[in-house]
Amino acid sequence: MFVCLGNICRSPLAEGILRHKAGKQGIDMKIDSAGTESLHVGERPDRRAMQTAKEHGIDISTLVARQVKPGDFDTFDRILVANEAVYNELMHFTRNESDKKKVDFIMNAVHPGSNTGVPDPYYGGQEGFERVYQMLDKACDSIIATSHKK
Ligand code: 4NP
Repeated sequence: MFVCLGNICRSPLAEGILRHKAGKQGIDMKIDSAGTESLHVGERPDRRAMQTAKEHGIDISTLVARQVKPGDFDTFDRILVANEAVYNELMHFTRNESDKKKVDFIMNAVHPGSNTGVPDPYYGGQEGFERVYQMLDKACDSIIATSHKK
């Protein structure tokens, strides 16, 4: 599961990219995304995120933003955050050490332990979304490479 702030830019892109790659390789994994904030709950992804995904042949237009809930820590093995601000917010939703251990940075899939953030593209232009897409694409390749086929 991917987590960002609003669940309308970074995490729905990551969700769409990973689902696309998993589907192509026949890997069965439960994939979702959510935001730490409730501001955009019920909304479709940002149109710039939808456009960027579309340019890469991925449709994320049916995704709907939701907020993280504690039960997510029961449903998912790995909760991957966009950056440190999101990490810190997400800690408020954890109930115990076991929950905390499931949380890691998305980009640590590429550079383990670096805690590199995926920049917030919300206040920039379309090019920021393409940059974010490229980062998430690499991370999802690594996630796929380290997951087991069923
Ligand atoms: P996201 O991007 O966390 O990648 O979905 C943002 C979406 C909305 C806001 C900030 C970042 N906002 O301030 O409303």
